[in-house]
Amino acid sequence: MELKEFQSDTIIEPFRIRSVEPIRFTEMAERKELLARAGYNPFLLRADDVLIDLLTDSGTGAMSSQQWSGMISSDESYAGSSSFYRLESAVHDITGFEHLIPTHQGRAAENVLFTTIASEGDVIPSNTHFDTTRAHVEHAGAEARDLVIEEGKKPRSQHPFKGNMDLEKLKATIREVGVENIPVIMITVTNNSGGGQPVSMENIRAVSEIARDHGIPFFIDACRFAENAWFIKSREEGFADKSPIDIARQMFNYAEGCTMSAKKDGMANIGGFLALNSDELASECRNLEILTEGFPTYGGMAGYDMEAVATGLYEALDEDYLRYRVRSIAYLGDKLMEAGVPIVQPTGGHAVYIDAKEMLPHIDSLEYPAWSFNNALYLLGGVRGVEIGSVMFGKQPDGSEKPAAMELVRLAFPRRVYTQSHVDYLAEVIIAAYQQRDQLTGYEIVEGPEVLRHFSARLQPLG
Ligand code: F0G
Repeated sequence: MELKEFQSDTIIEPFRIRSVEPIRFTEMAERKELLARAGYNPFLLRADDVLIDLLTDSGTGAMSSQQWSGMISSDESYAGSSSFYRLESAVHDITGFEHLIPTHQGRAAENVLFTTIASEGDVIPSNTHFDTTRAHVEHAGAEARDLVIEEGKKPRSQHPFKGNMDLEKLKATIREVGVENIPVIMITVTNNSGGGQPVSMENIRAVSEIARDHGIPFFIDACRFAENAWFIKSREEGFADKSPIDIARQMFNYAEGCTMSAKKDGMANIGGFLALNSDELASECRNLEILTEGFPTYGGMAGYDMEAVATGLYEALDEDYLRYRVRSIAYLGDKLMEAGVPIVQPTGGHAVYIDAKEMLPHIDSLEYPAWSFNNALYLLGGVRGVEIGSVMFGKQPDGSEKPAAMELVRLAFPRRVYTQSHVDYLAEVIIAAYQQRDQLTGYEIVEGPEVLRHFSARLQPLG
């Protein structure tokens, strides 16, 4: 028998499932009631009432058997736990940074960093600050300034690295506000608020050079560093033969530190860290860490969390995993584009972003078109995504309202959780909502807090 080698183009899930969680089916009439009771805010729904939950890819992933086995043998010592040293060694191996400051999640690392380095009147440039990052910068009295390239603001533009920072705007900002008022330059990889779009190695290098020339520290918001490394490998010249871990090492090598939510590419359900090179800054940050997070060898994490992250950081960089991860997002994107649903193109690393501004021209930005479409997905199919638009970003520090740059519904994929038939179902729900788009109306906010209002605001449909 002479068999020819078989080559498949199908990219399959590179794992099998040994532990399952049932999901609950509901009827549309029930969902109508549940959504009204939740103040038309999907954040206020009970997860049990959601069939497919794409609210976030943060902390919602499935851990591997290797991670679980590490958790069983963790060291829960208050000081000097071996789990801390395992995490420190993984972070040092991948990022090269000297100091590890563990925190309970990404925003805690932001809090420690910005409270330590930022003050009233400062400006902190980034490609796009994520909502918690922006809130922490503003909480410290500083301005969070987004300097993503113009292509990054146009959902249909076909740039391979739409998360890049506009270098001219960065230089202009430095000239305008002065080096002494810029405590740090940040770059978010991938650019979550801008569509999960990657940043090129070239751009990271160029930003780091500008920062170095002016003596300003350069930090990476590294939540999705592994997905970003995959895009560099597959889209940027000269990287095709490099491994994701080597690409990640090079990215971090240009920076002096990073903030990290291990709930994303740490593949863990909780955890985060600040990692950096400066001895002086590390020691200042540790003073605050002890006050708000915990002793420096655990921060906000249990020993078993640190074990999960130490293993997860490497699993996130596995090539088979990354190929499947990015392909499963593109698979949904392809189906939606075929049906004419406007989405941010090309699809990013962790989510599909639906362009509600383009889809619902009859709903004004300040009547929240993306919020409306997201609620329609829940009503029609029990699917929960998140609005990244004027509810999330419209409220200004002075209390006024301004439309956000884009009105997007983000459908973020938990890592290693849903299968291809879940995605096929999702496409059906989204297309059904799209076909009834003329029926959708805007919303108004009935009550909500001043800061991060999208988490808890109550709304009401208009008309
Ligand atoms: N930076 C980015 C780019 C993020 O996407 C997030 C969280 C954070 C920082 C904060 O990390 O949640 O661990 O405190 N993003 C989640 C999301 C919440 O749904 O995109 P955290």
